[in-house]
Amino acid sequence: MFNFDNVPDRRGTSCFKYDARKELFGTEDILPMWVADMDFQSPPCVREAAMRLSEHGVFGYTFRSAQSVDYFIDWVDKRYGWKINREQITSSPGIVAALPVAVRVFTSQSDKILIQTPVYPPFHSIVKENGRTLVYSPLICGEDGWSVNWQDFEEKLSKGVKMFILCNSHNPIGKVWTRDELQKMGELCCKYNTIIFSDEIHSDLALYNNNHTVMASVSEEIAQNTITAMAPSKTFNIAGMLNSLIISESKELFDKFHKEITTLHLELGNIFGHITMEAAYKDGAHWLAELKKYLEQNIDFAHEFVKREIPGVKFIKPEGSFLLWLNFKETGLSHKEIKELLVKKAKVGLNDGLTFGPDGEFHFRMNIGTSLAIVKEGFERIAGALRST
Ligand SMILES: Cc1ncc(COP(=O)(O)O)c(C=O)c1O
Repeated sequence: MFNFDNVPDRRGTSCFKYDARKELFGTEDILPMWVADMDFQSPPCVREAAMRLSEHGVFGYTFRSAQSVDYFIDWVDKRYGWKINREQITSSPGIVAALPVAVRVFTSQSDKILIQTPVYPPFHSIVKENGRTLVYSPLICGEDGWSVNWQDFEEKLSKGVKMFILCNSHNPIGKVWTRDELQKMGELCCKYNTIIFSDEIHSDLALYNNNHTVMASVSEEIAQNTITAMAPSKTFNIAGMLNSLIISESKELFDKFHKEITTLHLELGNIFGHITMEAAYKDGAHWLAELKKYLEQNIDFAHEFVKREIPGVKFIKPEGSFLLWLNFKETGLSHKEIKELLVKKAKVGLNDGLTFGPDGEFHFRMNIGTSLAIVKEGFERIAGALRST
């Protein structure tokens, strides 16, 4: 019904993925499969809403309408059984913008903040830039998938961690945390008085019948200890709208966060962000269902291809989203050699695994949120480059 094979040419549209290739990779001659947005057009309902506003042609001061927030409330209730109300929801111009606000409001200089590596690079940089102390609890990669090292997690929490930044589901490994895992993490955080910032930006993209669970929906005790960040940006490919929702059922946590975001005058938002969010949560569900099937097809292709054609590369199929965490260890090359080979020989632009933490050595993250043809091209280039080493 929707044609995901047909992706528009994004060059010359001020898009990071294509138009920042020279700065990032030193050349424009690469197939960009890095930054986490997709090449697909947004759902027709979203484009129509933006076009109606463009036609109207007045882009004055704006606010997020109660109705658009109600569509979001309805969305998380229907999908995740999470019941929230308007008074528990505020906003920020993106989740990356919300994170330093949360770090500043809920922790003090030098306080410890725990993250589970490998994880999204801004989790590292925001903690460091704000003078807090990073604590890593590395995830374990087994034959059957990823898991938490519970002993390490608890031991670190027990030594006085103020905040835990959870990535639910987890970028870059595509792990959709189960209710049991979330409950265990959540209860341990309550036990050691560690506030949870749960970044759930990838929540709507759970694939292969995996179910997303909202951390704050697991129990009342956990809800009272959690700030949740969600957004329509990954789901509907509208990251450029800089629009996210920050929720807490704890009045104390909510008030503190909301006060800071309003003191910084960051809550108003952008008129295109508001109207596209409303359209997406109101009418985007059907498109999303088809998108997920397309992403599964791309992942299935990639998995088969790698098994068949690139024996030195391995990855665990992600349970959600559109990112592959490719492990090149068995190529026998060093991390630096792989990096060079990808850019210079294969001419593909992936994210360097080391930016996700030290356990990212030998890894590169590939974005398959694009046409199957581009995914094939990317893997053929990598296979060809490795064959000729
Ligand atoms: C886990 C995670 N959080 C946040 C973001 C970005 O959020 P925003 O665009 O709302 O700042 C990304 C984008 O890749 C992400 O993967």
